[in-house]
Amino acid sequence: MCGIVAYVGQQDAAPIIIKGLKRLEYRGYDSAGVALQNQAGLSVFKKKGKVAALEAELAGRDLHATIGMGHTRWATHGEPNDVNAHPHYSFHRKLAIIHNGIIENYATIKQALLKKGHSFQSETDTEVLGQFIEDIWENTPDASLEDAVRLALREVVGAYAIVVMSEADPTQLIAARKGSPLVIGVGNGEYFLASDATPIVEYTKDVIYLNDYEVAVITNDELRVTTLDNTLTTPYVHKIELELEAIEKGGYDHFMLKEIFEQPRSIADSMRGRVLADAGTIQLGGLRDYMDQLARSERIIILGCGTSWHAGLVAEYLFEELARIPVEVEYASEFRYRNPIINEGDIVIAISQSGETADTLAAIELAKSKGATIFGVCNVVGSSIARATDAGAYTHAGPEIGVASTKAFTAQVTVLTIMAIATAHRKGTITDALFRQLLVELEGIPDKVAKVLESAQKIRDIAYIFTYARNFIYLGRGMNFPVALEGALKLKEISYIHAEGYPAAEMKHGPIALIDEDMPVVVIATKDGSYEKVVSNIQEVKARKGRVIAITTEGDTNLPDMVDFTIEIPKVHDVLMPLISVVPLQLLAYDIAVMRGRNVDQPRNLAKSVTVE
Ligand code: AGP
Ligand code: GLU
Repeated sequence: MCGIVAYVGQQDAAPIIIKGLKRLEYRGYDSAGVALQNQAGLSVFKKKGKVAALEAELAGRDLHATIGMGHTRWATHGEPNDVNAHPHYSFHRKLAIIHNGIIENYATIKQALLKKGHSFQSETDTEVLGQFIEDIWENTPDASLEDAVRLALREVVGAYAIVVMSEADPTQLIAARKGSPLVIGVGNGEYFLASDATPIVEYTKDVIYLNDYEVAVITNDELRVTTLDNTLTTPYVHKIELELEAIEKGGYDHFMLKEIFEQPRSIADSMRGRVLADAGTIQLGGLRDYMDQLARSERIIILGCGTSWHAGLVAEYLFEELARIPVEVEYASEFRYRNPIINEGDIVIAISQSGETADTLAAIELAKSKGATIFGVCNVVGSSIARATDAGAYTHAGPEIGVASTKAFTAQVTVLTIMAIATAHRKGTITDALFRQLLVELEGIPDKVAKVLESAQKIRDIAYIFTYARNFIYLGRGMNFPVALEGALKLKEISYIHAEGYPAAEMKHGPIALIDEDMPVVVIATKDGSYEKVVSNIQEVKARKGRVIAITTEGDTNLPDMVDFTIEIPKVHDVLMPLISVVPLQLLAYDIAVMRGRNVDQPRNLAKSVTVE
């Protein structure tokens, strides 16, 4: 959600910033803008719509500048238009600001500034913050801009990542964060700033993750980081492993398709060094010191949103089935607004691809304040959630650019499966033989996913038939119920077709009323413990003329005669099924969305990481 890119150094800033904004497009946005500083002063250009529209606006202008900043906005306060787009000038135009997040007490600050005679161009909370900083700067004797930023931010309630530029200090960028990410790339005589590392990797692998309540003052040859109370801190320079090819499409039409096809590799990466079937062991480095506590825990609470919440539902089955530990899976956004009961001996697991989801982060803070031990299952290394948790395991799926999560889901499920199996083995709730069998089967999952991907053409043919459906129902039981939810979410997100996921047996308690000859019903009907029951549910749909697309186990000769279409997937142990059964549903959603002409990688209204409540 929203992208920030800034540059100071010897090179031309504008092309670096524009390219960086394009790299951040996947995060979701509705308008874009840049501020550049040169002999002509501080200039701001901004435009509603895509970065390409901003580029058109910039064409033919003299943009030579070696310092500048750019922004893609995801509107929270005021509709997406040219005026509300960032950067915003302050009242006396002494500074310009870009901002990601929400200033919750902006109305109070705005009132105070209006009383002082200020007026506002935009409806944004961001412009209020810019004017507030300038007002403090002008009215506090001896205050530098940096001091004013600090003083202003001490009064602010909410979440922010900001960058400020001024004509008075034309070689300086001032950045600060609380709750929204900011990464600083350290180059040779140059610095880069961005919401995540993707715009930075092609220039440098040395990065600093700014912490909450820190302010960075950056020129081409100096970086100084202080806290809001002006204590100097020593930033730690991390080496990132991200390669450029990981954030490019590599010949695929869309990032989503590339990421679906990457799954044999990404699942293998999330197991690498952890699942050692030959040696008959599991190594989870990040949880090593906590495994006893996990095995002894009396209850596990899992927190997440969207797809990550679905991965949590799969984990509920895994931990209960294998490790016999009761599990509660909570929407992070609901958890934080209750007065949840956390007992000694409970473990909280927070799941997040981006590691920046505001609701999940806030839920973690609440659980922490109640004394819980918190594990993170995150994809983005160094992200806020990864850093806010006590321990955890990265999913190692690599950057996920498509807004609809695919490879991150299977990587989350892989890691959670490994955690559940390791816990069960330690507790003695599974036999040694089952433990070894599951390790061997886990190692075979990447090949089985590759096998499912061979059905891509068949799935495309089915998608073609259902391209113009208005509704879809997805059914599954047991561990395939969360997969049904995930399949429905994928279709909704990228094709804008209304879709519902349901536990198959629950259908007869309501949704069955929707079934007629126009209703496609996707049923995950693999050969597992509930196969016979699911077959009965299929009969109920067929009796009402619903059109059934069944995900079946290879060699099932029964279902093809009963349903309209089948997509076969290989047989695996029941507890590993979601890793395989979700893949055809990802492809089906993708194909339908493409056939409907949707913007698959950047669906309307959605953001990749939701950094506001
Ligand atoms: C997934 O396709 C969605 N775009 C969305 O539901 C996402 O899973 C959710 O916003 C959580 O994000 P996170 O995993 O980065 O925390
Ligand atoms: N709240 C700000 C606005 O609406 C920033 C939104 C963003 O994060 O892009 O302009």
